[in-house]
Amino acid sequence: MKLRSMLFVPADSERKLDKALGSRADALILDLEDAVAPARKPAAREAAAAFVAAQAKALPASLFVRINPLDSGLALDDLAAVVVPGLAGIMLPKTTSAEDVRRLGLYLDALESRAGMARGTVHVVPVATETAQAMLTMASFVPGIPRLAALTWGAEDLSAALGAISNREADGSLSPLYVFANSMCLCAAAAAGVDAIDTLHADFRDGDGLAAACAVARRRGFRGKIAIHPDQVDIINEAFTPSEAEIAAARRIVDAFAAQPQAGTLSFDGVMVDLPHLKQARRTLGLDD
Ligand code: COA
Ligand code: MG
Repeated sequence: MKLRSMLFVPADSERKLDKALGSRADALILDLEDAVAPARKPAAREAAAAFVAAQAKALPASLFVRINPLDSGLALDDLAAVVVPGLAGIMLPKTTSAEDVRRLGLYLDALESRAGMARGTVHVVPVATETAQAMLTMASFVPGIPRLAALTWGAEDLSAALGAISNREADGSLSPLYVFANSMCLCAAAAAGVDAIDTLHADFRDGDGLAAACAVARRRGFRGKIAIHPDQVDIINEAFTPSEAEIAAARRIVDAFAAQPQAGTLSFDGVMVDLPHLKQARRTLGLDD
């Protein structure tokens, strides 16, 4: 599943749901959690379920729902409403470890069965760094976790969990813990064999800043980014799509190894390339995940 751009859409907003129909995001995340006030949760559930039922077939985007946290008392009602044919995935906020993904998977087993959906249809994308406990259980992300499609991270809820005044230093830079959270999301995703999706860029009018943040994220290994406004989607899609120059360079590396199948390392434009470069080049060309 391609999750290069994932656009959050508050599920209680008819207007935003309508607008999202025209989005080029790879995935829409219909939000039932922080973007929806407590009194509006039931209406948001109904709207999300109706949207998935009506739009999933025609829309190119994969449809996700962000439910409320497993310990919120709301998650089971969220799931009971939104697991309907067409649902591609659940975003799980405030996870405490990969065990939460397994538990959610058991709920999904039952709800898929009730909905007449094939077992395992609904994927899971946890927000992996929103609780203090999650930061201490990152090693729980291992290969082969059923339903796991990607990991993403967030810096806001973690700072709230710690009682921090801000997640930034006085000079505006992200504090070390949140840089660490970003890095651990990359490691946990790689350890689990899934994509890491970068957190959101809150200043949605700042297209240049978003493009720069995407470039940093992509260099680090993120494969996509969360969007919170429709205008962010094209910038994200472009940033996480290899440029023609990158594709041409990758093609030359793959061809050079193909021409010398016995070689583990080659001289290429005067520098050494070896198997990690080949792996990266194959990934750029979409030959490997
Ligand atoms: N999804 C779909 N449509 C959206 C949207 C979104 N995330 N954000 C804005 N739009 C729509 C608006 O409704 C408006 O549509 P209209 O032309 O039909 O009126 C249009 O895009 C332009 O919106 P704009 O006026 O620039 O922004 P806004 O002030 O209406 O909304 C936010 C700003 C931040 C409130 C809004 O972008 C939003 O709700 N983002 C998602 C928040 C969220 O889900 N948070 C949870 C994850 S952290
Ligand atoms: Mg949050």
